[in-house]
Amino acid sequence: MFKKVAPYIGEYKKYTVWAAILMSLGILANVTPYYFLYQIIAPLTRGEKIELSYVLVRVAAVAVCEIIFSFSYVQGLTFSHVSAYNTLKNLRISLQGKLEKQPLGNIRELGTGRIKKVFTDDIDQVELLLAHAIPEGIANIAIPVVIIVMMFVTSWRLGLLSLVPLVVGMLAMGMMMKSGFSKMNAYYESAARMNNTIIEYVNGMEVVKVFNKDGDSYKRFGDVVRSYRDFTIDWYKVCWPWMAIYTSVLPCLVLLMLPFGSLMVLGGTITLDKMILVFCMSFAVGPSFLKALNFAGKFPQLNYKIAELEKMMDHPPLKEGTSGFSGSSLDVEFKDVHFGYADTEVLHGVDLSLKQGTTTALVGESGSGKSTLAKLLVHYYDLNSGSITIGGQDITDMSLKALNDKVAFVSQEQFLFNTSLYENILIGNPTATRTEVLEAAERAQCMEFINRFPDGLETQAGDGGKQLSGGERQRISLARAILKNAPIIVLDEATAFMDPENEEKMNAAIDEIMKDKTVLVIAHRLSTIKNADKICVMKEGECIAADTHDRLLETCSDYRKLWEASISASTWKIKEAGDNA
Ligand SMILES: Nc1ncnc2c1ncn2[C@@H]1O[C@H](COP(=O)(O)OP(=O)(O)OP(=O)(O)O)[C@@H](O)[C@H]1O
Ligand SMILES: [Mg+2]
Repeated sequence: MFKKVAPYIGEYKKYTVWAAILMSLGILANVTPYYFLYQIIAPLTRGEKIELSYVLVRVAAVAVCEIIFSFSYVQGLTFSHVSAYNTLKNLRISLQGKLEKQPLGNIRELGTGRIKKVFTDDIDQVELLLAHAIPEGIANIAIPVVIIVMMFVTSWRLGLLSLVPLVVGMLAMGMMMKSGFSKMNAYYESAARMNNTIIEYVNGMEVVKVFNKDGDSYKRFGDVVRSYRDFTIDWYKVCWPWMAIYTSVLPCLVLLMLPFGSLMVLGGTITLDKMILVFCMSFAVGPSFLKALNFAGKFPQLNYKIAELEKMMDHPPLKEGTSGFSGSSLDVEFKDVHFGYADTEVLHGVDLSLKQGTTTALVGESGSGKSTLAKLLVHYYDLNSGSITIGGQDITDMSLKALNDKVAFVSQEQFLFNTSLYENILIGNPTATRTEVLEAAERAQCMEFINRFPDGLETQAGDGGKQLSGGERQRISLARAILKNAPIIVLDEATAFMDPENEEKMNAAIDEIMKDKTVLVIAHRLSTIKNADKICVMKEGECIAADTHDRLLETCSDYRKLWEASISASTWKIKEAGDNA
């Protein structure tokens, strides 16, 4: 387990080592007073007279020991926490790096709840390993072992008797770990389910309210919470009898020593003196061992969580090359592209070429795979087979950064960070000046609503951009793309949320930014893409035709149907308005 975490400790390993040394010293100081206790009791049992100064010196020694204990233990804990929290930081940063390289599909499959749990709760568990289990565990085992050896040296018979409760306690703990382990997967899965359901419940509250689904949704919520309770109680039921045995028996080393030791003293096998010395030493052993073994009891949980972490990190990352862009042009070529999100394939061998400096539109029924194809060009996912090249260079051959420098993507789902609108636009090009940001916002028709906010560009976007309307989010997204000024642009329903007046302005802005660029545009309103150089008709995951608007009207019945539906939708709206008037 430690080996798995070790690479992330890095330079802080020495802190863990120092923590173990200091804590061992602390525990040694903590158990030494039992010896002074013996020194005071032993002469009294022999009926010897002792001076007050003799007692006071030992009491002072006890006080010094306690001071040493407090200081070194606390200092040890400080070091162990420095090492632990730096390791947690390294783990989280490394996990984030690996997550970033994962195909988005895998991340979605994991679920926000599980990812949050791994990132916060599970990684926090590593703190127990590094800050406590390792340094405190080592100290709490090393010192008692030394004391047990001393007990054997003093009286091997009593030493042997002292081992019996230790062994029984350890066996009980082993049994607890074994039986608890069988329930652990179910327990953690139920915890993960509860996490995901709670997040879904909160995220979906709007839908739940609109459709009066409070009852169903609450029931599901209640079910997972109850199931978590059942799994937890189940786990404790299996564990607690063993827990009761080891917590009571293990620290009680005198259990057999007391009766048999007394008999030995009476029989003259050992002196009372020695028995008292061994007794005093045994008091120091039990609690320390129990503490160390309590950490061991947590190891199966820790193992499970580290395995979860590894599972998440070990998922094959996105195939990302290391080279820069070396394409001979900005022509984009989809060749026999097959792709599926999970097991079901949604694109079945798409061939499509986008010529440099031209606009290609994707049209087709909802669910035909248009957005998927667009996302593949920005390498959100790896293909099942086939290839996507830019100027002849496969996109998996170049680094994501190189690809991102060439391609700007305005997606169907807009996401804004909870920072200012200014910073949200700046994401498009972090080196841009304020004037350039303002210009991009202007061109994407953002200023009209930004000027309405008292804080203007400094207005916070809210969680995921919820302070803004869909159309406003879309315009911010477009401003990002304008600022980025990449030579290849992918626009997925970029004006879907627009009212007619703004749509016209937006289209004008889009036309302008599309000039001289290689563009892939997706639009439901076919009137907006009618002038595209090429229109690709998607149907059930295939590109069934690709040509100009006029030619497609003649040759492709599916396109004709889409076009007629699009025309009648707009005339239907006009007619309806006319009827009402
Ligand atoms: N994240 C996902 N996980 C699993 N399946 C998905 C995912 N996204 C899309 N799909 C499926 O892939 C198919 C293509 O979806 P896609 O979003 O590409 O369609 P589209 O043509 O863009 O539709 P629309 O016009 O409605 O935006 C659909 O059947 C959809 O159910
Ligand atoms: Mg789509």
